[in-house]
Amino acid sequence: MAITKVTAQDFDKVNAAVTELRDYFTNRSCELGRPLTYNIRTYGCQLNESDSEKLSGYLEQMGLVPVEEGPADVNFFNTCSIRENADDRLYGNLGVYKAHKKQNRDMIIAVCGCMMKVDKNIQKIKNSYPFVDLLFDPQQLHLMPVLLKRSISSKKTAVDIEDVDYIADDNNMPVSRKRKFRALVPIMYGCNNFCTYCIVPFTRGRERSRDFDEIIKQMEELAKEGYKEVMLLGQNVNSYGKDLGENRSFPDLLEACAKIKGFSRIRFMTSHPKDLSDRVIEIMAKYDSIETHLHLPCQSGSDAVLKRMNRHYTREQFVRTAKLFRQMIPEGAISTDIIVGFPGETEEDFEQTLSLVKEIRFDSAFTFQYSKRPGTKAAEYEDQVPADVVTERFGRLLELQNEIVFESNKSLVGKTMEVLIEGESNTAPDILTGRTKCNHLVNFTIPAELGISKSASELEGYLGMVKITNAKPYSVEGVLECLKYE
Ligand code: 5AD
Ligand code: SF4
Repeated sequence: MAITKVTAQDFDKVNAAVTELRDYFTNRSCELGRPLTYNIRTYGCQLNESDSEKLSGYLEQMGLVPVEEGPADVNFFNTCSIRENADDRLYGNLGVYKAHKKQNRDMIIAVCGCMMKVDKNIQKIKNSYPFVDLLFDPQQLHLMPVLLKRSISSKKTAVDIEDVDYIADDNNMPVSRKRKFRALVPIMYGCNNFCTYCIVPFTRGRERSRDFDEIIKQMEELAKEGYKEVMLLGQNVNSYGKDLGENRSFPDLLEACAKIKGFSRIRFMTSHPKDLSDRVIEIMAKYDSIETHLHLPCQSGSDAVLKRMNRHYTREQFVRTAKLFRQMIPEGAISTDIIVGFPGETEEDFEQTLSLVKEIRFDSAFTFQYSKRPGTKAAEYEDQVPADVVTERFGRLLELQNEIVFESNKSLVGKTMEVLIEGESNTAPDILTGRTKCNHLVNFTIPAELGISKSASELEGYLGMVKITNAKPYSVEGVLECLKYE
């Protein structure tokens, strides 16, 4: 597949389309006597969240106003194909939107994201959901305005699914960030690993690193704009820079980012255990602004399963890395991803996973039942594990992991921890939420005697010292002692 850089001419076309669409939407808005709205429903990972923020950036340049819930005048579904249940949710939603579109014929419905890299899905939408106005895949994201213009002027479904891996030019794209304190910063796109269960290398293409200096320039601007938290994103951030040359590796980038003044938290994900170098851990330990949380997906605790997953590390190597992290950053936290019921997983293999969970005591874990993804190697394996066995094992893993998380949360009670405030919690209006440096979720109250007059939303992005008073199974509760700076 060709890897192509987005050119200045591409952007000229895109900008011309944005201008035309802004005129078109402004006229329609005048006719209707109300602002025109947009809504993006985002499924899946942080990279999709980041893509949606760019779509928002373009849509807002066109004069559209965001609404939390659809239906809006312009509706995007930014899809995920990592597991089958994500596909099902899209089709359920499209069914509902068919009725909305009948009531409002000018409504625009677009489907993008990873599902649009799978032929079967494109055909299904074309055949069964012909009211969808435009389809494009993640690689064509920057061309969205051109496609939208084409669809509106031709009144036909516009489709752009191409076999090209673009190196996105993020510094030239508008972004409307969802949180005023947090910036998502993709540092690379795609994945070369071909884990045998995973669809991502097929949907997101080959690894392309963004230019090192462009990322640093973007980070400096974000710091100047007042962002407090940045999240460096990639399917496998530790292989960043392999296509760039000397002194352009992930640890080099992480260290250069940590030297930029202004950020309270630099986060990154995801780390592949085979590529995580000791130097990354050393840098994490050295710089105060880097979170002390490592997301390190193990997927399984059995060497036989890891081999069939094409993960390129053994359990022993994984344990060594995790223990090195614990030793160098004792107050830090490790989270992981685990798949249960990978084809051929025996009871003994599964018990190896349980024993790894007991050995490392992950501070949190995303646990998944294996989902067969057509087109991947594992989908062809004949020894698929029966669904009832997967469910039963999954239950056992969850029970063990929940116990460990609860205990990890209990160990925080009595400590005073630095929390980056994220705003109002969804538990109650006078309870705020935030995260510790090692990514523990903290819900806390502000005692009246502190005399803090700022509202929850004004406090977003502030650092506060919170005394932890109570542990819950998935979070901890506390009381604010002071803000770190006003
Ligand atoms: N089935 C179940 N889980 C999967 N993941 C990726 N592909 C699959 C699949 N086919 C999980 C992995 C990965 C996380 C993002 O999603 O654990 O780390
Ligand atoms: Fe998928 Fe493996 Fe790439 Fe992660 S590293 S995106 S699990 S293929």
